[in-house]
Amino acid sequence: MRQNLLRSESKLLRYPIRELVEIGKNLESLGNFTMIWENIGDPVAAGESIPSWMKAILRDAIEEDKTYGYTDSRGDVEARQYVLDNFSDDKVCTIDDILFFNGLGEAINKILNKLPKEARVLVPSPTYPSHATAEAMHASCDYISYQLDPENNWEPDLEEIENHVHYNEQIVAILVINPNNPTGSVLKRETLEKIVAIAKKYDCFLIFDEIYHHMVFPDVENTLLYEIIGDTPGISMKGISKDVPWPGSRCGWIEIYNAEKDDHFNDYIKVILLTKMLEVCSTSLPQKVLPKIYGHPEFDVLLAKRIAKYLQRAEEASAFFENISQVRLVQPKGVFYLVIELLDLPYATLESKNKKIRLALNELEKEDIYQDFQFSYELMGAEGICVVPLSGFGSELTGFRMTMLEESDTQFTETLMGIARAIEGYYR
Ligand SMILES: Cc1ncc(COP(=O)(O)O)c(C=O)c1O
Repeated sequence: MRQNLLRSESKLLRYPIRELVEIGKNLESLGNFTMIWENIGDPVAAGESIPSWMKAILRDAIEEDKTYGYTDSRGDVEARQYVLDNFSDDKVCTIDDILFFNGLGEAINKILNKLPKEARVLVPSPTYPSHATAEAMHASCDYISYQLDPENNWEPDLEEIENHVHYNEQIVAILVINPNNPTGSVLKRETLEKIVAIAKKYDCFLIFDEIYHHMVFPDVENTLLYEIIGDTPGISMKGISKDVPWPGSRCGWIEIYNAEKDDHFNDYIKVILLTKMLEVCSTSLPQKVLPKIYGHPEFDVLLAKRIAKYLQRAEEASAFFENISQVRLVQPKGVFYLVIELLDLPYATLESKNKKIRLALNELEKEDIYQDFQFSYELMGAEGICVVPLSGFGSELTGFRMTMLEESDTQFTETLMGIARAIEGYYR
C-alpha cells in the first residue's frame, strides 16, 4: 500500500475473551481433544436450551410481513415503550430517550467514539474489555481506571474515584458495570448513590452498564441507575444477550436520563442519534419480539431456574476452592461468572497433553506475557480448559474468570477438579 493503513491507536485494540479461542482451537487440533470453553459468556453455546414458547414467538413473528421492514432509527416503538414501562422510569426518561443498537457492544463503541479525544471516561478495573478498549481507542492512549477491591466484595474505593475526577479535568463520565462482569458483584446502593453524587459534584455524566440487571441471586438487592440518578445526566445500557438469553440477536439498547439537564450532554446525545440515523436502524426481528418474550408468563420461571443453577455452581466452586491457599474467591452475588484470583502467581509450566502442544506453548510464552496468561495457556495445554486471564479484564490482579454456565453437573465438577489439579501443579 502507498500509505500505512493503521491508526496509531490500533495497537490498543484487544479482546482477550475471543483472542484466546484461536489459540485454544490450535491446541485442540494439535492434541486431538475437545476443549472445555469456559471463556465466553454465551449461555446458548454452553448448552442452555431455548424454550419452545420462545421459538413459537419467533415463528409467529416470521409469518408477519412487518417483521421484515426497517424500524424507527431509535428502535421499534413497541419495544421502546415496553422498555420504558418495565425497565426504566418516566421520571427521567421518555420513549425518545431509548435507542436500540445491534448489541450493546455496538452501543459501547458508538458512545465512547463520539466523545472528543480529550473527554475521558473513568472505567472500573477489572472491567468488561469492550469498555476499556473503546475508551482507550477513542482517546488514543491507555484507559483510566478505578480499582474494585476483592477484599471488600469488589466494592470500589470512593475516595479513589473522587480523586481521579477531582484531579483530572478531562474525565467527563464515570462508568459502572452493575451487576458486574467479570466479578459477579452487585454494588451496595450506598456506593452507587455516592458515585452519582461525585458525578453531580464535578458536572460529569454516568454510564451504567446494567446488562445483567435480571441476573441477581435471591435476596440480593440490585439498585438501578434510574432509581438514584436524580437530575444528573446518565446512560443506562441493557440488552437481551444474557437474560433472555439471545446473544446472537445482537440486540441491546441505551436509556438516556436527564438529557435536557445539560446542553453539552444533550448535543452529544444528538450526535449518537444522528449516527444511528446514518445507519437507518438496528435489526428489527429481536425488537419486534422483545415485549412478547419478556412479557411471557414463562420468562420469569425460566430466569429463576437459571439463576438457581448459577447460585448452586457458585456455591460449589466456593466450597471447592476454599482450602486452596493460593486462591482468593469472592462469592458472587449474581451474573454467571466467577473470578478466581491466584495469589503470588509465578511463571511456571505444566505437563502438556503431548509434545506438539508443548512446543506451541513454548512459542506463545516466548513473548512478554502476564503470569496469568501463561497460566491460562498451560491450563489449556494440560487440562483442556479455556478460561480468561484476569489481566485480560484490565486488572493488575492475577487469576482468571470462568463461567457457571455449564449444563452438566458432572462436567462442572470435573472442570473444577481439572482447574484445581492445574493450580496445584503450577505452584509446585
Ligand atoms: C458487561 C457487558 N456489557 C456488554 C456486553 C455486550 O453485550 P452484547 O451481546 O449486547 O453486545 C457484555 C457481554 O458479555 C457484557 O458482559
